[in-house]
Amino acid sequence: MGFVYKLLFRTVFAPMSAERAHHIGFGAIKAFDRVPVAREAVGRALRPRPEESAEVLGLRFPNRFGLAAGFDKNADGVRGLARLGFGYIEVGTITGRAQPGNPAPRMFRFTRDRALVNRMGFNNVGADAAAVRLADQRRLLERIPAPVRPVVGVNIGKTKDVAGLEATIADYRHSTGLLAPLADYLVLNVSSPNTPGLRDLQAVESLRPLIQAVQETAAQAVPHPRNALGHVPLLVKIAPDLADADVVAVTELALELGVDGVVASNTTISREGLRTDAERVGAAGPGGLSGPPLAGRACDMVRLIRRTAGPGLTVIAAGGIETAADARARLAAGADLLQGYTGFIYHGPFWPRRIAAAAYPG
Ligand SMILES: Cc1cc2nc3c(=O)[nH]c(=O)nc-3n(C[C@H](O)[C@H](O)[C@H](O)COP(=O)(O)O)c2cc1C
Repeated sequence: MGFVYKLLFRTVFAPMSAERAHHIGFGAIKAFDRVPVAREAVGRALRPRPEESAEVLGLRFPNRFGLAAGFDKNADGVRGLARLGFGYIEVGTITGRAQPGNPAPRMFRFTRDRALVNRMGFNNVGADAAAVRLADQRRLLERIPAPVRPVVGVNIGKTKDVAGLEATIADYRHSTGLLAPLADYLVLNVSSPNTPGLRDLQAVESLRPLIQAVQETAAQAVPHPRNALGHVPLLVKIAPDLADADVVAVTELALELGVDGVVASNTTISREGLRTDAERVGAAGPGGLSGPPLAGRACDMVRLIRRTAGPGLTVIAAGGIETAADARARLAAGADLLQGYTGFIYHGPFWPRRIAAAAYPG
């Protein structure tokens, strides 16, 4: 089936802007989900196999491969995505307040590298509206049998207009209070390159009070979560541009504060190792690069985090996972779970099933 999507990609998606292609593709997934015969047929064909299921973060995952944050920013297509065989779906990034993001164009394909550059800037409906949408999606998900129902993670970030650590913490608290009750796990995103000042939050002095505030708010909002941990699992998502010493510092802080895991990694501001010609790369402008060029650094980060943390943290690997071999390499480096975004754009709706099958080590 891969060749059918490749043809569709070349003839339909490639000639239009990457963002428009995203809206049309995601729109088609949601439309498909509204047709019972179609969604049942797709769901049956792409359903995770029982042996692929795994217990991580006190939760039962139908398989170890999930959709990374940024695809379903407003949590309004979770069930349609669930039918494609993802073991989990991370919605967001959702910010405390609604915001339009950066002006378009803001998403670019480097097809020779099967990579993307984006500077979306957290365009999203904000935590209040997203909570309503997510609650709707969760009701729809209830109709999927539990063993194959995907886990839903919620990725939260900073509203652009909010300045200073105190106001930033209040912004994250607002999102946490609304979204923790609807999240199987939460991800604190401090690593997008497209929100000014966001990545400074990775510094331990800022990250410590932020993590503590989110943990406290989540515990108040969800005193009795339905998982084996007894609290809503919290992970921190970090950037591949951090120096190794900073990756170690964040990992050690996570261990000290009882954070449950680290997502490594977000997109990179580096443009090294690309086959796409320099003029095209330059014309795209600033933003985060994703896809295969990120794979080496992202895999090294997983290894470093695992070496630093031992078994004490859950590691979710993201960044350039495209093939079965990538999936196995990331697990061998110490990841518990895998996720991807860019591969979904280039390889289409049957891709998640292939990677999920590869992520079953047995
Ligand atoms: C268009 C686009 C938008 C993204 N938006 C977000 C986001 O809102 N929040 C986030 O944490 N990561 C976001 N990401 C990063 C992905 O979740 C992922 O970490 C990164 O793309 C590396 O994985 P990949 O190589 O499989 O795409 C985005 C990525 C892309 C390509």
